[in-house]
Amino acid sequence: MCAEFNPLDWQLLCRFPERMHKKSSWTEHVPFAMALTEMLRPRTLVELGTQHGVSYCAFCQAVAELKLPTRCYAVDTWLGDVHANYYKESVFLDLQRYHRRYEAFSVLYRMTFDQALANVPDASVDLLHIDGLHTYDAVKADFETWRRKLSDRAVVLFHDTVETQRDFGVYRLWAELSPNFPSFNFEHGHGLGILAVGSQQPPAFHDLLRTANAKPASTRALFASLGRRVLLETEKHWLNQKSPVQRALTVLKSKSLLR
Ligand SMILES: C[S@@+](CC[C@H](N)C(=O)[O-])C[C@H]1O[C@@H](n2cnc3c(N)ncnc32)[C@H](O)[C@@H]1O
Repeated sequence: MCAEFNPLDWQLLCRFPERMHKKSSWTEHVPFAMALTEMLRPRTLVELGTQHGVSYCAFCQAVAELKLPTRCYAVDTWLGDVHANYYKESVFLDLQRYHRRYEAFSVLYRMTFDQALANVPDASVDLLHIDGLHTYDAVKADFETWRRKLSDRAVVLFHDTVETQRDFGVYRLWAELSPNFPSFNFEHGHGLGILAVGSQQPPAFHDLLRTANAKPASTRALFASLGRRVLLETEKHWLNQKSPVQRALTVLKSKSLLR
C-alpha cells in the first residue's frame, strides 16, 4: 500500500553522529544516511571512498544501533586523490582505531575499487555509496564496474551531484542516469543522488521517493536543515577541542576579521 514518507517513523533521523570530522564535505548527509539505513535494512553495504569515515561510520552507527545483520565494507587506498588531495597515513590509522568498535560486522578494505571487486559476491550489494574520484570518467567507471555487484534491492548513492567546479563530473553522470531509474537528488552538502537500481526495495523507501518527488522543495528543506544541525554540532565539537586562544582566532577568522 502507498503511504507518505513520515519523518516521525524513523528513530535515527535526528541522531547525532559519533564520528565527526571537520574536513568532510559529507557531514550534512548524515541524517539521511542513518534514516536510509533504517529504511533499507541492507544485507550488504559497500562504500567506495571513505577517507576519515564520516559517511561510512554514519552507516555503521545505524547498523550497530538497530542491531541489523548487515555486512559493511569500506574500500579506499587511504592515500587520497587529486580532488580529496593526497593525505597522511594518520588519516587511515585514526579511522582504523575508531573503527574497532564495528569490526564484528565491518571490514576496511585498503585497496583500489577494482581490486575490491574480487572480495564482494555478484548481485549481493543492497546499498552502494560511490564517493571516490569525482571526474566523469572515474565515477562512470565506478558505477559500471560495480553494477554487477548490485542486488535486486540495490540503491546507489552518488556524492557531489551538484559540484561543477574544476573537472568534477558527477552531475553529468547523474543527468544521464537519473531519468532511467526512480531517483531523487539532494542539493545541499554538494549534492547527494539516490538511484533505485534494483526493482525490489522495501515499501518505506518507495514512500520516501514518491513523497520526495511530489514535494521536492519541502523534502530538500527538511534534510538540509537536519544536515545543517549536524554540521553546526560538528563545528562546535571541533571548537571545544581547541584552547581558548585558538578558539578566539577561529571565530575571528570565520567572521573574516583576520586573515
Ligand atoms: C571524497 S573522499 C571520500 C569522503 C568520505 N566518503 C567522507 O565521508 O568524507 C574520496 C576517497 O576516495 C579514495 N579513492 C579515490 N579513487 C579511488 C580508487 N580508485 N580506489 C580506492 N580509493 C580511491 C581516496 O583515497 C579518498 O580517500
